[in-house]
Amino acid sequence: MKERWTAPERFAGPVLGIETSCDETACAVLDANGAILAEAVLSQAAHAAFGGVVPEIAARAHLAHLPGLVGRVLGEAGLPASGLGAPRLGAIAASCGPGLIGGLIVGSGLGKGLALALGVPFVPVNHIEAHALTARLPGLVTGGAPFPYLLLLVSGGHCQCLAVEGLGRYRRLGGTIDDAAGEAFDKVAKLLGLGWPGGPALERLAQEGDPRALALPRPLRGRPGCDFSFSGLKTAVAQHLTARDPAAPLPRAEAADIAASFQAAVADVLVDRTDHAIRMMPEATLLVVAGGVAANATLRACLAALAAGHGIGFAAPPIRLCTDNAVMVAWAALERLRAGAEGGLDAPARPRWPLDEMRAPQSLAP
Ligand code: KG4
Ligand code: ZN
Repeated sequence: MKERWTAPERFAGPVLGIETSCDETACAVLDANGAILAEAVLSQAAHAAFGGVVPEIAARAHLAHLPGLVGRVLGEAGLPASGLGAPRLGAIAASCGPGLIGGLIVGSGLGKGLALALGVPFVPVNHIEAHALTARLPGLVTGGAPFPYLLLLVSGGHCQCLAVEGLGRYRRLGGTIDDAAGEAFDKVAKLLGLGWPGGPALERLAQEGDPRALALPRPLRGRPGCDFSFSGLKTAVAQHLTARDPAAPLPRAEAADIAASFQAAVADVLVDRTDHAIRMMPEATLLVVAGGVAANATLRACLAALAAGHGIGFAAPPIRLCTDNAVMVAWAALERLRAGAEGGLDAPARPRWPLDEMRAPQSLAP
């Protein structure tokens, strides 16, 4: 992708962010300092009947709801929303990847069209970079989460430890060799007959259960490095369920014990792997967790204790900014605009867009 950089200068206008990479249709407006002027997220309920995201349904729902949502957040941000009259908007940003191609085309297409009409830059945003930079939003961490920090990214599609060395400078320390952590939550929730998405439903049920009730494996715990594996854990739960009388209904108390035991196993594994990652990045003084699974209270508490044990700081975005949202998209764009990015109307929507293909702004190169 062609990206152009100019000398850094203070970016003056508010930024509109658009997120449509999966099943959340989201918009937000941030002022030039990163203060949130307006934000909205529509979660698409239509996928629940299918037990997972149906890409074509997602893309059509984004198309149906995004224009209205953009108008609404611009209005709430105090920016004229009708016709071409939004003269005070300084830039428009949208997730251009990685994600489901249909949704990415809808979000980035609408963003580019608006940017062209208003004569403002369009900033293509990498969705993973947006998760990675969320902790730097003003007011979340005292001092603003200075680089470098260690990031544990745990979402429905990603599970990795990254050394965040600077804007556009990400070093992958390890990642999952099979399922992502959120994917494992969703699959086990499905086995337990919970709704979709499964993570939040499983966490709620786990509150009623005993985390020691079921002896589940801790895949890769204690192994060198910080790779992850979750598919064996999901299979262990499936085997436990098939070993019972399949005709007998699963009592709620038993399901709660399974949920609590599974959640404890995931948290144990994530803590062990992150412990290794901290040792692999001795320069890190801060551990940041991001992505949908970072909304999990048990995991947040375990990671906070881990960081405290290492004498480093810990940051987790507020729950609503862990799952997919547009505040993080607008913020990632602001970081790049402040570093001198000119924008890129020619940026394609990309289903795959690994973070190590991101470039550091020349103005920030060491
Ligand atoms: O970051 P995200 O919103 O979308 C992706 O980029 O994937 O993450 C969604 C994932 C889903 O797998 C969902 O089940 C999981 O995050 N999740 C949770 C919780 N809230 C969302 N997993 C465990 N506990 C939660 N409270
Ligand atoms: Zn995400």
